[in-house]
Amino acid sequence: TTLYIPMDTAAVAAGVEHLIPAIQAKAAQYQQPIHIVRNGTRGMLWLEPLIEVQTPQGRVAYGPVQCADLDSLFEAGWLQGADHPLCHGLTENIPYLKNQERLTFARVGITQPLCLDDYQAHGGWEGLQQALRYRPQQIVDIVTESGLRGRGGAAFPTGIKWNTVLHAQAEQKYIVCNADEGDSGTFSDRILMEGDPYTLIEGMIIAGLAVNATRGYIYVRSEYPIAIRVLEEAVQRAYTAGYLGKAILGSDKNFDLEVRKGAGAYICGEETSLLESLEGKRGEIRFKPPLPALEGFMGQPTVVNNVISLGSVPIILAKGAEFYKNFGMGRSRGTLAFQLTGNLKYGGLVEKAFGVTLNELLYDFGGGSASGRPLRAVQVGGPLGAYLPQKDWDTPIDYEAYSAMTAMVGHGGIVAFDDTVDMGHMAQYAMEFCAIESCGKCTPCRIGSTRGVETIAKIRRQEQPEQNVQLLHDLCDTMLAGSLCALGGMAPYPVLSALEHFAEDFGLQPATTA
Ligand code: NAI
Ligand code: SF4
Repeated sequence: TTLYIPMDTAAVAAGVEHLIPAIQAKAAQYQQPIHIVRNGTRGMLWLEPLIEVQTPQGRVAYGPVQCADLDSLFEAGWLQGADHPLCHGLTENIPYLKNQERLTFARVGITQPLCLDDYQAHGGWEGLQQALRYRPQQIVDIVTESGLRGRGGAAFPTGIKWNTVLHAQAEQKYIVCNADEGDSGTFSDRILMEGDPYTLIEGMIIAGLAVNATRGYIYVRSEYPIAIRVLEEAVQRAYTAGYLGKAILGSDKNFDLEVRKGAGAYICGEETSLLESLEGKRGEIRFKPPLPALEGFMGQPTVVNNVISLGSVPIILAKGAEFYKNFGMGRSRGTLAFQLTGNLKYGGLVEKAFGVTLNELLYDFGGGSASGRPLRAVQVGGPLGAYLPQKDWDTPIDYEAYSAMTAMVGHGGIVAFDDTVDMGHMAQYAMEFCAIESCGKCTPCRIGSTRGVETIAKIRRQEQPEQNVQLLHDLCDTMLAGSLCALGGMAPYPVLSALEHFAEDFGLQPATTA
């Protein structure tokens, strides 16, 4: 019997490496031969370690499996797909998975992440094969037409960025993948890199063909050791098989790719800091302009894209711009990999077309709070995203709709809190986070964030609350308008949203904050 056991960080954190020898020992004891295949995660993280048993009907899911469950699983006959309290039936029929639109993550959890044959058998390299038939401008036009926007959070149209790089004159151009996924509550980049690394590699090669760049770097945060190991091995194998290096697949195109490890700074997820770090310097923001698209890595035109942006390119090339564009709403086309975290019963990865609501994500997928208490606040878009109260949870998620409510979709991280949350504390922490992670280059962020923490603390202690609320507003205005990058420029959003929607947590009447 074949067992699919994830090698993803979430499964490892849930003890899968201890479980495997125990399963092997039990299989020997019960004289039932097994063959273990390591896959990526299915993204249903509350079920990890999720083990799938191959049956004639398909894969049957069991989880979360612990060593103590093994005797009862073997006795029930799980290797034949038998029922058991931990059995969830056929994996593909689990509503959490079935109700998603998996485009970028179509293969994750299904294939063996490092197996090139498996990748190819599931539609891998089809986008690259198409791209090799097109001129660079045609590739750029297809990506523009698809409506794909930067999935790192800023939502800049990917095709327009590529067009700028394509038309820049230079001897050497670069593709840099931003895999420094630092937002709180996010892990979609990691799941894609660990579960389907060739999708990212394929997307980067296509980006290289599109803008005439022959070198690429994947800048991965050091906190992702498994992703780094998987990517390094995948890059090696892609070289050996002729997808990377000189004369890709016998064409006259070349593309070299390297994996580089970050050093644990949130600010290195900002593209110019990332480039500084990649060049071996201190991770500090560069002034923009010039944009990296014109003067990026080593001063050369550079595409800097997030993992999910690049990972979405292969399916766009393989199935066409029209196919991708047909998902989504308004100017937000395609899908976003939402990441459900915080106080939710069913945390995990949910890839859905834009237009889904928070209520659907929180309740239909997330199952409501893990604590059983009412949900009260949700932070969307990482530590710089606004806290949204319940009245906003029915708004279809779309970049423009969120901007209109001074919120942001960002990288799709969703952190839920129940009614025990103290939003005064959360607001103070949002400023503290900015103070901790500030690169120190500009005054509004370097000093403003520390003054912000102090001022919020005073409001919470009821020290001259009216004057201090006014001061906090002034300070936030200065940070919003005067910061050099998004860290200082957006840290006011969670603070102001907490103050606006949850004034009572600061000991204020809602009117005081108006
Ligand atoms: P931005 O709006 O300045 O730029 C977005 C991208 O478009 C950049 O790559 C920029 O170089 C490019 N661009 C802008 N105009 C262009 C043009 N005319 N031609 C070509 N390229 C152009 O936003 P920024 O500061 O890069 O990112 C801020 C976002 O980052 C926030 O919205 C936040 O959601 C997100 N973020 C994500 C994190 C994560 O872990 N994924 C962590 C922290 C922030
Ligand atoms: Fe550095 Fe903060 Fe200024 Fe950004 S806003 S450049 S992180 S000091």
